Amino acid sequence: RGISILGVPMDLGADRRGVDMGPSAIRCAGLQQRLEELGYAVRDDGDLIVRRAKGYDSVPESNLKYLYEITRVTGELAEAVAEMDVRENSPLVLGGDHSIAIGTVSGVIRRRSSLGVIWYDAHGDVNTAETSPSGNIHGMALAAILGYGHPHLTNIGGSGPRVRPEHTVIVGARSLDPGEKRFLKEKGIAVYTMHEIDRLGISRVMEQAIERASKGTDGVHLSFDLDGVDPDDAPGVGTPIPAGISLRESLLVAELLAESGVVTSAEFVEVNPALDERNKTARAAVELIAALMGETIL
Ligand code: ARG
Ligand code: MN
Ligand code: MN
Ligand code: MN
Repeated sequence: RGISILGVPMDLGADRRGVDMGPSAIRCAGLQQRLEELGYAVRDDGDLIVRRAKGYDSVPESNLKYLYEITRVTGELAEAVAEMDVRENSPLVLGGDHSIAIGTVSGVIRRRSSLGVIWYDAHGDVNTAETSPSGNIHGMALAAILGYGHPHLTNIGGSGPRVRPEHTVIVGARSLDPGEKRFLKEKGIAVYTMHEIDRLGISRVMEQAIERASKGTDGVHLSFDLDGVDPDDAPGVGTPIPAGISLRESLLVAELLAESGVVTSAEFVEVNPALDERNKTARAAVELIAALMGETIL
């Protein structure tokens, strides 16, 4: 059993600087050793190179911030992830802002053409240039994966929709823009907001989410935005939204996913060490990854 780790130190898709330090913070929190203790052969491929100079690549014809560099980096990411699959290692990508998901998913689907996605997030990330209030591409990543948005984004490492709406599940949403609400209803995407989580409980929510993402697919990608976790437990994120999923419930999510055996790739994004308290959020990420990879308490 092998795992390949790849870091993407990019913050260009986010509003606030600092998530570029995420991969380093997660490694510092002891990721590799933790996975090796579980018996995995871990290969750390290091980080992609991101040119972080600001202001050089504004796109005159749209409000998308840093479109060119994000397109370039996520394209490279798609190739690197596709390469991991050839080695039969499970890809584990460390962000970086959430725009990197476009690259990860595009790489994974080279081998698993029918992929389900579980998008764990306080946000929907289904904006397009037309609906985005910010122009930040991390808020458009899931839309691009579904085939909507600027052609640069929808054509990263491939073309056409990467994932079907009926195989897409959002868990933890509590901050959706008006255009996103319309999009999600129109496309019929399953969204388990905090409301459903409170009513059904996280365990039933995950049963349904797993069923939806795995039925008729040949793998499930977990795209885990740390801002899905409550800011009390994960304060080091750029866009914290209160009243979220506790770390305790989030660990159960990871454990249930491990039990189900459906997850074939994962990414952990939006850790911002500059806003964190003594690397608390990166440490939470390591706990979550270990649980996802099968670590149990007893
Ligand atoms: N919906 C807001 C936007 O489009 C916030 C998105 C936050 N996304 C994230 N991956 N943290 O700007
Ligand atoms: Mn996100
Ligand atoms: Mn988010
Ligand atoms: Mn537990």
